[in-house]
Amino acid sequence: MRRKDIITSIEVANYEELNETDRHLVDLAREATLRSYAPYSHFRVGAALLLDNGEVVTGSNQENAAYPSGTCAERTTAFYAHSRYPEAKFVTLAIAARDTSGEEISSPISPCGACRQSLLEFETLGGADVKVILAGAKEIYILPSVRSLLPLCFSEIV
Ligand code: THU
Repeated sequence: MRRKDIITSIEVANYEELNETDRHLVDLAREATLRSYAPYSHFRVGAALLLDNGEVVTGSNQENAAYPSGTCAERTTAFYAHSRYPEAKFVTLAIAARDTSGEEISSPISPCGACRQSLLEFETLGGADVKVILAGAKEIYILPSVRSLLPLCFSEIV
């Protein structure tokens, strides 16, 4: 028997330490939280995705009375981006969220498992790492790729 460790390295930064492009994406993700439709959870999530054609697509969580029919901000954004620009590669994804009192969460949230799997497919398709920026009010996490969020991932059919 042998042991295998999987290590995820996260850069922790504050807003001022980000480059201009990343700051802009965080701004757009924060703004997108305001367009969330979350009458059930009251937890508003926004995302902003930079594509390699220079376009930025934003999205937010969209809930539904039939709860599982709702979609997270990350998948809303990724699916719209890929349906609008099927040839474009994903470059950087920023995610922000507001808690039930409407305040920006102080520590970042991280995409759910279903979103990780969906994002991973687009990262694999593009053939390049997608930087993931998880924005909280107090600190921001920067991950080098979607894959780093989903070790031992399933990607056989891509
Ligand atoms: N949600 C997202 O949009 N992204 C995440 O990363 C986690 C959760 C949404 C789903 C649901 O509308 C609400 O947040 C509460 O879970």
